[in-house]
Amino acid sequence: MRIGILNGGGDCPGLNAVTRAVVLTGRLRHDDDVIGFLDGWKGVLEGAHIPLGVERCRDILTIGGTILGTSRTNPYKIDGGAERAIASIGASGVDALIAVGGEDTLGVASRLVADGVAVVGVPKTIDNDLGGTEVTFGFDTAVQIATDAIDRLQTTAESHHRVIVCEVMGRHVGWIATYAGIAGGAAEILVPEVPFALDEVCARLRRRHERGQFSSIVVVSEGAVPAPGPDADAWERLTAGASSDAFGHARLGGIGAWLADEIEKRTGFESRPTILGHIQRGGTPTAYDRVLATRFGVAAVEAVHDGAFGSMVALRAGEIVRVPIDEAVSQPKRVDLGLVEAVASVFTG
Ligand code: F6P
Repeated sequence: MRIGILNGGGDCPGLNAVTRAVVLTGRLRHDDDVIGFLDGWKGVLEGAHIPLGVERCRDILTIGGTILGTSRTNPYKIDGGAERAIASIGASGVDALIAVGGEDTLGVASRLVADGVAVVGVPKTIDNDLGGTEVTFGFDTAVQIATDAIDRLQTTAESHHRVIVCEVMGRHVGWIATYAGIAGGAAEILVPEVPFALDEVCARLRRRHERGQFSSIVVVSEGAVPAPGPDADAWERLTAGASSDAFGHARLGGIGAWLADEIEKRTGFESRPTILGHIQRGGTPTAYDRVLATRFGVAAVEAVHDGAFGSMVALRAGEIVRVPIDEAVSQPKRVDLGLVEAVASVFTG
């Protein structure tokens, strides 16, 4: 067969591990031809692709980013874009496409499947917000990076008796904040799933400091918001007019700096913000992500050979399974509040 692969959306550690697994499995096990579309759906629209041989891919397992490039191009937002994408896929001669991406990329994949294109999905995102799979590759690496950063923030916060607010990514879910916050021993973990009452956060910090803890780490997910009231109104005013991408997602960020400022004003504790930003997406994937990405890549090629189009490979109870792409993109996988309650609430505060 001739198989095309593309990466869409934000990059993520483990993308190259998937590409390697697809190329090695396709070429060595099935004698397939593999090509890589450049920069996600943009490369599909422009007919930009490269041949992917075993030699090109042997040594890319450990490398972060993606050798194929990526973009947030949405063919369905461009006049005639879907028709151009379908024609270009046909002209490239591929029998099937493996789309490696998150909600947006796989949303496009799902629409193309409905339009008759043979696509298999692979779930990718540091945010871990895709449905259908228990984990996406990239998440473990992002959590490790954020945890390492929190460990470092703990020592400087202790030395200066400060509150440090650490803003992490995650878009509208708080998986990275929850895992890194628990792993790093944060005093507060604020996630989008539970709008926070800032005065209560401040009261808990005060109690903690009265008990003799003179420093605190507050981990906040970039999409966390204050509970309805004057703080929510103030935050809304500050973020009104934020720019958005081709999929309609507003650019998030800034809650950490705002919180540090408010916490200092309300408690009198000297506070500083740290925004981890794209550091969480860069560099080499953890061993866990390399293994998961490799398993996904192998499974995606097998799904192509089984004609399982419209499906996405996924992790469930330790096994790689196939689920409908639609199931993965229908709604975001939110943080299990049971985990926040049962674990985080005992150790925070
Ligand atoms: O979806 C991954 C993600 O890293 C989000 O956590 C974040 O909000 C967004 O991408 C940032 O996107 P960009 O790289 O376009 O700034």
